[in-house]
Amino acid sequence: MKFSYVNPTQIHFGQGQIASISHAIPSDKKVLFLYGGGSIKHNGVYDQVVDSLKQHQFVEFAGVEANPTAETLDRAVELVKEQQLDYILAVGGGSVIDGAKYVAAASVYDGEGWDILIGKHQVTDALPIGAILTLPATGSESNMGAVITRAATQDKLAFMAPAVQPKFAVMDPDVMKTLPERQLVNGIVDAWVHTCEQYLTMPVGALVQDGYAQALLSSLKTLGEQYDQRDNDQWRANLMWSANQALNGLIGSGVPQDWATHMIGHELTALYGVDHARSLAIVQPWLLRNQIEAKRAKLEQMGQAVFNLDPSEDLAERTIDAIEHFYQGLGVATQLVEYGSDKEAAINTIIAQLEQHGMVALGEHQAITLEHSREILTAAL
Ligand code: NZQ
Ligand code: ZN
Repeated sequence: MKFSYVNPTQIHFGQGQIASISHAIPSDKKVLFLYGGGSIKHNGVYDQVVDSLKQHQFVEFAGVEANPTAETLDRAVELVKEQQLDYILAVGGGSVIDGAKYVAAASVYDGEGWDILIGKHQVTDALPIGAILTLPATGSESNMGAVITRAATQDKLAFMAPAVQPKFAVMDPDVMKTLPERQLVNGIVDAWVHTCEQYLTMPVGALVQDGYAQALLSSLKTLGEQYDQRDNDQWRANLMWSANQALNGLIGSGVPQDWATHMIGHELTALYGVDHARSLAIVQPWLLRNQIEAKRAKLEQMGQAVFNLDPSEDLAERTIDAIEHFYQGLGVATQLVEYGSDKEAAINTIIAQLEQHGMVALGEHQAITLEHSREILTAAL
């Protein structure tokens, strides 16, 4: 095992913590206050932010959409350059925070922002970012990744750079009170799959990473089983913290990682508008069945540690069934229906996009070729 690890994001967790931005953002900064479609105007978050920024100069940019587009974010970049803003405050879910990462990096770059997503520009510098999380799911509030869509070409691509990792993240579980059921469930599923992507590979004897991943999966499973307690402070706090810990770099340190479910899922979102988490629930069970031999040992470990299944020859198969039932129990579909009526045409389109994006050898062994992706999609559509 060999790795370097740091998570430099300061976390302000708990009720009332939004006020902490007044000192978390240096007072001489000119702030871009970036948010989404307006949910923050209905739950008091907007008012708390404005109140806490009393000592700061700030400019607002609203309208970052779910699955944020470069087209919209480029307008925010223009604003930053025009007004010489030097701090980005993202208030929202993964989409707004990812959008802030793009804006922070593109604002200090002279070329096209999209260059960042196609690897033409390597991000080494960015404006500082602070995040107020309103939807626990992605972990974006304390990681260095972002996923941005170019609407014109239906490309949904990711970039990672330490320079865009938020300096601080405010996680006040009270903000979850206005989350629609669909988004609450999305949060459970996304955090679950993030953990699986860093755990369901092959055994490397990493006791700490495996043990922590299992603790996160067990917590998320419990939250799903106790879904009727979702109006309870403790339930909300547990989901918010689990989702954060699932993708903050810790459980993935020094162990193999997969991410094929995410890469295929991103194409489903880009082409058919499926919510990110739901794209994962569609792809993952079929991907695990497709890759069962390579993943058998970890599936068996998960079956016993997380689902308390009895050991037997078909334990890996039963673990995948249990994962699928977990999604279905949350009311999340595990088959794609959004593609219309021509299944073959849809699969060809998705495969063409995967190829175009270089997603031709996915998974911890780079063993998921386009042919495997085609098999997975044939089962999932
Ligand atoms: O835009 P507003 O009006 O705020 O509404 C949002 C949006 O419509 C709403 N919402 C958020 N907080 C709310 C709320 N509604 C009521 N009350 C609240 N407190 O929820 C909707 C969805 O928000 P979004 O930010 O899109 O959801 P999520 O956090 O699931 O983020 C998804 C995006 O993150 C990317 C995904 O690809 C997708 O683009 N990901 C980012 C990752 C990362 N940076 O590490 C990893 C993930 O795997 C993922 O790919
Ligand atoms: Zn995800």
